[in-house]
Amino acid sequence: MDKKITVIKGDGIGPEIVTEAIKVLDAVAAKFGHSFEYTDILMGGCSIDACGVPLTDEAVATAKAADAVLLGAIGGNTSTSPWYKLAPNLRPEAGLLKIRKELGLFANLRPANLYDELKFACPLRSDIIEGGFDMMIMRELTGGLYFGERKTEEVDGVETAVDTLSYNENEIRRIAIKGFDIAMKRRKKVTSVDKANVLDSSRLWRKIVNEVAKDYPEVELEHMLVDNCAMQLVRDPKQFDVILTENMFGDILSDEAAMVSGSLGMLASASLNDTKFGLYEPSHGSAPDIAGQDKANPLATILSASMMLRYSFDMDKEADAIDNAVKQVLAEGYRTGDIMSEGMKQVGCKEMGSLVAER
Ligand code: NAI
Ligand code: MG
Repeated sequence: MDKKITVIKGDGIGPEIVTEAIKVLDAVAAKFGHSFEYTDILMGGCSIDACGVPLTDEAVATAKAADAVLLGAIGGNTSTSPWYKLAPNLRPEAGLLKIRKELGLFANLRPANLYDELKFACPLRSDIIEGGFDMMIMRELTGGLYFGERKTEEVDGVETAVDTLSYNENEIRRIAIKGFDIAMKRRKKVTSVDKANVLDSSRLWRKIVNEVAKDYPEVELEHMLVDNCAMQLVRDPKQFDVILTENMFGDILSDEAAMVSGSLGMLASASLNDTKFGLYEPSHGSAPDIAGQDKANPLATILSASMMLRYSFDMDKEADAIDNAVKQVLAEGYRTGDIMSEGMKQVGCKEMGSLVAER
């Protein structure tokens, strides 16, 4: 297959980790007979530097013409970088909000799983994580509390702030369909998380999710209240396959799940629209403290590239090949500094990428 990939290296460690992910994608292309064509665009601090804005309309057009976008990370140390002096009010992160909006990316996917070799980094008790866990959090990204009407005003002489949490049935249906589709590629279980004992928006959420579930008879559906879910994530994370939830609950639960898995440098993510198109990036940021030192862990970006193959290109066996290569490299004892432990072999970003590509 021929696929066009728009590449956003971004800031900080972004260029280093993306270079390693492309190394691995090229190895996959060679082994499985595909052709990937890469086009770079600027976003974030580097775009402010070069173009005066965090993301140009031309760059958006390039991304729209591709089959998927691979992103490293954006964001710099604003007060000391040279572009800060040029444009102190422009935030690199504004590029990310703009591209999500322009591409209609309403579904955010964040896996949280535990690798046997990295169990030492997991903060949970060893009896709880016996046998590991492997979940996928599907968070609605463009609705709910973060996008509702908000205001702060005096009411009867008292300063009062209002945020609005609103979802319509179409917004819920499209994310629910994504959640069930993903579950069909996994262990076929969906846990829909809401607060239906209190919120109207959650009662609509539950109703629409139940309707969508009828089209997926093979998938087991359960409903869980968000406070209970926050507990269950640390009490028994094994029970989860796909967690399907709205914007704010997903924001909080996905950070909790990331913490539970213990290794930020290993966590991939994807943002999808209602076509096969998606934007794939590691969950971590631009790590300015280690940028340019060949210290970054490229595995989260490499695993994001694997998600791109699986979810945008339907290349399941190619994605499995990457996931298995990562597991093999860990099993052989290779570690970047962030996941290093006693007796293991410490390698840099470049070597880690090469090891995965070879395997
Ligand atoms: P961060 O994730 O960049 O770094 C947190 C800590 O984890 C640092 O000590 C860093 O060295 C380490 N770390 C992160 N990724 C690593 C990797 N791949 N390998 C080894 N160590 C790694 O978060 P922080 O420091 O809060 O933010 C730094 C910048 O990144 C900020 O400008 C922030 O806005 C931006 N950011 C961008 C995101 C994105 O592009 N989607 C997401 C989160 C933050
Ligand atoms: Mg968050």
